[in-house]
Amino acid sequence: MVYYIRFLKPPKFHQEKEKKNSKQSRPQLKKTVFITALICITTDLGDDFLAEDVDLVATWAQRSSRQSMDQCALKWQAGCRQVSISMGPYSVDHVAQHEAVLQIRTQAIPQVILGIDSTPLVISGCSAHFSWHAQSKPAEKLVKRELRITDSTPALSLNIWEETGNSIARHIWDAALASIIFLNEIVAGTSTGNIGIPILSQLLNPLSRSSPLQVVELGAGCGIVGIGLATMLDRCKVLLTDLPEVEEIVMRNLDEAHLKPSSTVDYKNLDWDAPPSDLCSQPIDLILVSDCTYNADSLPSLVSVLGRLVRTSPEALVLVALKRRHESEGVFFDLMRSAGFKAQHTTIELPEQHEQRDKIEFYCYRRADESE
Ligand SMILES: C[S@@+](CC[C@H](N)C(=O)[O-])C[C@H]1O[C@@H](n2cnc3c(N)ncnc32)[C@H](O)[C@@H]1O
Repeated sequence: MVYYIRFLKPPKFHQEKEKKNSKQSRPQLKKTVFITALICITTDLGDDFLAEDVDLVATWAQRSSRQSMDQCALKWQAGCRQVSISMGPYSVDHVAQHEAVLQIRTQAIPQVILGIDSTPLVISGCSAHFSWHAQSKPAEKLVKRELRITDSTPALSLNIWEETGNSIARHIWDAALASIIFLNEIVAGTSTGNIGIPILSQLLNPLSRSSPLQVVELGAGCGIVGIGLATMLDRCKVLLTDLPEVEEIVMRNLDEAHLKPSSTVDYKNLDWDAPPSDLCSQPIDLILVSDCTYNADSLPSLVSVLGRLVRTSPEALVLVALKRRHESEGVFFDLMRSAGFKAQHTTIELPEQHEQRDKIEFYCYRRADESE
């Protein structure tokens, strides 16, 4: 289980009046400004805090150039639930010139490197912008994950915004990070026999396709997996789907995406409980589902949508990534079997605190032949 740095209170410029030493009889008041914020280091579910000491660096940077204006060292201590940040004092003239962002990181470089052996335990984050001119208004309640996909030349960047609050949908979940690592292993051709799934490797091999790969993602959340795939893979057309509440953050992430020039990503609302009668008008090659099995109540409608999609695209593969959170999720496998799906299975490990490893499971489903 990795841990995510989140803003409990997003950064803002905070003005304090400081007494300036003066030889005159009445002290002068000089305006000084601080940057304040409150952070925590928590799980994707927000249900637990990191129980290890970690050194952090907070960097106040210019929004556009990302030039660092000031830095301070922070310490997260095992057992704590939040760390407050106060940087400064700065003069008003100094802060008034630029829009700012506040980045909180654990490692030497700003980006988080995603790879089998390189994914860090703590995922750094950068705030939305804030400025002095906005009259001490805090940054929006968002955090940007600046991810770099390893083993790719040139390096692939994946910038994904997520909310800092407790929304289930507008967050990055652990299985999504593992999906990026897993898909990149396959696309870059670095997957070993241990983690690879040959039919998926073949599908994602551009040389084996005469037309663009048609991909649909269900329950896409912030869109990280589908956007990630179109960032690493040429000639793929991804349709992200979810409930209307994610649309705004997905659009923000699409604005920042560095897709392969021949690939596209679109978004459409699709509620598994109320799917349209014309669910899919064209054949699909791959359906992505990441961390969508946590709620046993929604599993019958999720599996029903998968069944309908595969009925019109019998050759489609369904890649399900999941992290087991409770036993009730086991129903998913029974439902998939009853719906005529057959799976190949593999796992990817993510770091866990106290030098443990956490498992994310991948199931690559396809429709079983009548004879199977
Ligand atoms: C735990 S989040 C996973 C998000 C993303 N796939 C990831 O791994 O980061 C589960 C997603 O399923 C979506 N979801 C839940 N019920 C749904 C439904 N009935 N129809 C469509 N999407 C649904 C949620 O909105 C949410 O985005």
